[in-house]
Amino acid sequence: MTQENLMLKIARERYTTKHYNGKKIPRAQLNELLEILRLTPSSVNSQPWQFILVSTDEAKQKVAEALPDFNKERVLMASDVIFFAVPEKITEEHFKALLDKEIADGRYLKAEIAEGLDAGRRYFSGLHMGSVEETVSWETAQVYIALGFALFAAAGMGIDSTALEGVDFEKLDEILQLRRRGLRSVVGISLGYRRPDDSNATRPKSRLELADILTEFK
Ligand SMILES: Cc1cc2nc3c(=O)[nH]c(=O)nc-3n(C[C@H](O)[C@H](O)[C@H](O)COP(=O)(O)O)c2cc1C
Repeated sequence: MTQENLMLKIARERYTTKHYNGKKIPRAQLNELLEILRLTPSSVNSQPWQFILVSTDEAKQKVAEALPDFNKERVLMASDVIFFAVPEKITEEHFKALLDKEIADGRYLKAEIAEGLDAGRRYFSGLHMGSVEETVSWETAQVYIALGFALFAAAGMGIDSTALEGVDFEKLDEILQLRRRGLRSVVGISLGYRRPDDSNATRPKSRLELADILTEFK
């Protein structure tokens, strides 16, 4: 099978898991998924995120308090859950950490290039940072790239998943004590293995036809 077809197969076969069997993902595989999250691209390499890993039964019980009933099992019976949080403000410290890391990783051969890139990043980020709401909205767009990476990568690794928007995020922020860190949770993902009777697994996929959603501008 070509790589291309493998990607298409994953896109066709991955699905939103509604019922998990409680089996744990081996830690080495979970670490690989976390590494994939770390490698997520973001606008101007801003990486405006914190990933909150919830793995123990005790922690899952606590965060389940922020979930409506229909979503509780997707956390309690999953192996691990990752919540994605964004800062209310991109701080000077964060901009500096990004630049220092890019330099340490060998991205720039010349200091002037680093300075230019840093200035460009600050300018472009600044266009989206008029208010906390605007900042969070732009950062959330970046976080959803990480969510997409995780959904696709997990399926490629034989791990089932559920994207989680059905969450009381204000309550979750309290439980995870995020506000005191200047963070807001915006979305989550459960990871684990399906129960054999998860009826969603065999439900046919439903998407609008390509002709209905594709415009070719010539
Ligand atoms: C951003 C996002 C948030 C979602 N939130 C939830 C959720 O809270 N609970 C749930 O059961 N499914 C959730 N879903 C699953 C969607 O309903 C599902 O992806 C969609 O119906 C397509 O089905 P499929 O994923 O099985 O292909 C979410 C999906 C996405 C992409």
